[in-house]
Amino acid sequence: MSRTLIRGGLVVTATEEILADVLVEGERIAALAGPETSEQWVAGVDRVLDASGMYVVPGGVDGHTHMQMPFGGTYASDTFETGTRAAAWGGTTTIVDFAIQSRGRALREGLDAWHAEAEGECAVDYGFHMVLSDIGEQTLKEMDTLVGEGVTSFKMFMAYPGVFYSDDGQILEAMQQAAGNGALTMMHAENGIAIDVLVKQALAAGHTDPKYHGQVRHPLLEAEATHRAIQLSRVADVPLYVVHVSSTDAVAEITAARDVGTPVFAETCPQYLFLTVDDLARPGFEGAKYVCSSPLRPAEHQESLWRALRTNDLSVVSTDHCPFCFAQQKELGTGDFSKIPNGIPGVENRLDLLHQAVVDGRISRRRWVELASTTPAKMFGVHPRKGAIVPGADADIVVYDPAAEHVLSAETHHMNVDYNAYEGRRVTGSARTVLSRGQVVIDSGEYVGRKGHGRYLQRSTCQYLS
Ligand code: URP
Ligand code: ZN
Ligand code: ZN
Ligand code: ZN
Repeated sequence: MSRTLIRGGLVVTATEEILADVLVEGERIAALAGPETSEQWVAGVDRVLDASGMYVVPGGVDGHTHMQMPFGGTYASDTFETGTRAAAWGGTTTIVDFAIQSRGRALREGLDAWHAEAEGECAVDYGFHMVLSDIGEQTLKEMDTLVGEGVTSFKMFMAYPGVFYSDDGQILEAMQQAAGNGALTMMHAENGIAIDVLVKQALAAGHTDPKYHGQVRHPLLEAEATHRAIQLSRVADVPLYVVHVSSTDAVAEITAARDVGTPVFAETCPQYLFLTVDDLARPGFEGAKYVCSSPLRPAEHQESLWRALRTNDLSVVSTDHCPFCFAQQKELGTGDFSKIPNGIPGVENRLDLLHQAVVDGRISRRRWVELASTTPAKMFGVHPRKGAIVPGADADIVVYDPAAEHVLSAETHHMNVDYNAYEGRRVTGSARTVLSRGQVVIDSGEYVGRKGHGRYLQRSTCQYLS
């Protein structure tokens, strides 16, 4: 069994900051101790990692990715291999990706397909949520089976009629099923029926540029759907997790529900915190790089998101990593914004962008760890194996250099996509050494992991519910 000692760093978790050395034995964290005790460990270890001046934090948990997802006639450009490698570069050691049910097909078929794509490919550990896109008797029964296999969360869409869309009755039924099996229901809360009307009207008026994607996906249609999802979840008496929250209006619905004790949880994503409609309106067709749903918003929405991250009305930051190359993929929507594949890359950049918020005084270091690692680990049933630095936890550890300045760029990133949404942005902080279950996968600027190291995570039910 290999033994590694991480020495001299500041261990930062969601709840404390302590100067401690961390002993890793095999795949697990064995012990934490001060320098006198750890001095005695030095002789018995295979490797000592010097972490002086560094933070030692639990590996990031990105609860929202779409590796090689089929969408709009193409596939997200990161495979499980390239996407999980990029995640590792950025200090993320767990992803939870979305397996998808096709219309008219069983959940089993979709889940098997995603397992087949991911198995033997991943650099870090991975789990699956399941997207429900054809809710009926069979699907409801299958949900119970999947929960038993560690797929303990189900995403539904109030958007994308004819593709992933579920109507309110179907959503209610799936929520009632979740009430029985303990699964977490996740919602893409945008009123897709109304949006499609606005899309048609926009195109008929000759409004075909990417910026109209933001205009037709009105924030009130996000707020309305968020409100409806919350009320449906209250009727079914289940908790709800709202994905990719982007607007002041949607946050207000979540806050109001939480204020009366409703178990509603929500995430936002770096793109909503750091990018705006101005990016969507970039000249030429460049705005297409910034097409995602929910869409980017005017800058004033960002203050509401930051505030909600501080008050915990937003408790997770995930990426919704869904990369499509500008050339040939985003270009599918030239002359018709509604044909631009939706999604923004970011799995590699999340920890650094959020750390920038620490540097800028928006959140604390502990909150950084909580939002990016500990809460998603609890929310998606992998804590304390993930998201914690305690004896017995998986040794998914990032030695993070809080002073390393670098510039985010497609020239230097490792995601398999031809642009970086944050191109040219200077950030302070970078993952220096990354361990996944005790194996060093990033070693001071070098990738030393391997595909197939990452294992499937059989997840428990949401730990905020038990
Ligand atoms: O634009 C996005 N978010 N693409 C990925 C699919 C989704 O709705 O999460
Ligand atoms: Zn979505
Ligand atoms: Zn998504
Ligand atoms: Zn970097």
